[in-house]
Amino acid sequence: MFQSLTSLPPDPILGLTAAFRQDTNPNKVDLGIGVYKDEKGNTPVMKAVKQAEEAILDSQLTKAYLGPMGSPEFNNAVTNLILGKDLADNIGGRRVTIQTPGGCGGLRIAAEFIYTANANATIWVSDPTWANHKPLIGSAGLKFKSYPYYDYATNSVNFEGMIEALKNASRDDVVLLHGCCHNPSGADLSMEQWQVIKNTALNQGFTVFVDLAYQGMGTGLNEDVYGVRLLAESLPELVVVSSCSKNFGLYRERTGAVTLICESEKACNASSTLLASAARSNYSMPPDHGAAIVQLILNSPELYSIWEDELTEVRNRINSLRFKFAEKLNASTIPKDFSFIKNEKGMFSFLGANTNEIQELISNYGIYLVNSSRINVASINDSNIDYLIESITEVLRK
Ligand code: LMR
Repeated sequence: MFQSLTSLPPDPILGLTAAFRQDTNPNKVDLGIGVYKDEKGNTPVMKAVKQAEEAILDSQLTKAYLGPMGSPEFNNAVTNLILGKDLADNIGGRRVTIQTPGGCGGLRIAAEFIYTANANATIWVSDPTWANHKPLIGSAGLKFKSYPYYDYATNSVNFEGMIEALKNASRDDVVLLHGCCHNPSGADLSMEQWQVIKNTALNQGFTVFVDLAYQGMGTGLNEDVYGVRLLAESLPELVVVSSCSKNFGLYRERTGAVTLICESEKACNASSTLLASAARSNYSMPPDHGAAIVQLILNSPELYSIWEDELTEVRNRINSLRFKFAEKLNASTIPKDFSFIKNEKGMFSFLGANTNEIQELISNYGIYLVNSSRINVASINDSNIDYLIESITEVLRK
C-alpha cells in the first residue's frame, strides 16, 4: 500500500528550521520560524508561566478528561482577554468559546465548523497570508479566493485594492483577517481601516473570521484587538481564533481557542454542539497543561501583572530591534529605504530579497529566511546584527 508513495517537499517554514539545525556555519542566524528569542538567542519560559506551573504541580488533583470544549475557566478567561470583560458580558449568550490545541487546532476546528454551516462557503485570504492558512483551512474542504493586501512597491497595505476585492464577497463568503501583526508582512490595518472593513462586512453580509495569533506583541494588549472588538460589537456573527503560543510563550503546549459570536443564543447553542463534535471527531479533547497555565495567569492579579510586564518587555524589545535593524540597513550601501520595518508590527517584515538572493543568504551566509523574504525580527540581537547587515548588504547591493 505504501510502496508508491513519494516524499513531499519540506514545509516552507518548518523545513527551514530543520535545514538551519544541520548547518555547520558558526555565524548562522535563523530568521525563519516565528518564535521570540531574547538577547542571548533563547526562547525563555516566561516567569509568570513558571510560577503558574509550580502552583499547578502543587494543587492539581486529577488528570481526568476535560471534555471536547476544554476548560470553561480557560474559555472565559481567554474570551475576556480578547473582547474585554464588558463587551464579553454584553454579548452574553450569543458567544461561545472552545479550547483548542493551539491556534492551528482552532483554525482547523473553525474551518470544519464553517464547512458544516455552509459547504459552499468561500474563504477570502489576504495576499500574502501565512503559509499554513490554506493547508489548515483547505483540508476541511473549503474553497479559497484572495484579496490584495500588501503592496510590495510601497511596503504598505493596499487598502484600496483590498476593499475593492471585498466588495465582491457575498453572504456565502467568509473573510479571513489577521487581528494584528500580519503574518507574513507585519503591515497592520489602522483604526480607520477597521471601520471601513466593518462597514463593508455589514453591506456585503459576509462573515468575518479573525486569526489572532499575536495579541500583545504589536502595540499593546488592548490596542492589538481594536479591530476584533469593533467587529464583535458591530457584526451579527464573528469567528475569532486565538493562540497563546506567542504572547504566553507556550509554543509547544498547544494552547488556543475559537470564539464564536452568533446572531442569536439559539444559533450559539447549536453552534457550540457543532464545535464540540468537530473536536471530538478530530482529537476528542484538547491538551490541558498550557490552558491550565493561562487560566491561572489570567485569573490571578499577581501573575497577570508579572505576565503583562514580561509581555511589554518582549514587545518593546521587538520594536527597538525593528528600529535598530532599519537604521542600520538605511545606513548601508543598499539603495533602498527600509524605514517601513520600523512601523510594522509583531515578529515579521519582508526584507524584499528575491529568490536567488534568499538562496545566496542561506547557502553562503547561513542566514535563513522564508522564501517570501519574510524575516523574524525577533531573532536579531546585538551579537548577530552586524553580521546580518554586512551579509545582507553583500547580497542586496548588487
Ligand atoms: C510562523 O509563521 O513562523 C509561526 O506561526 C510558526 C508556524 O507554525 O509556522
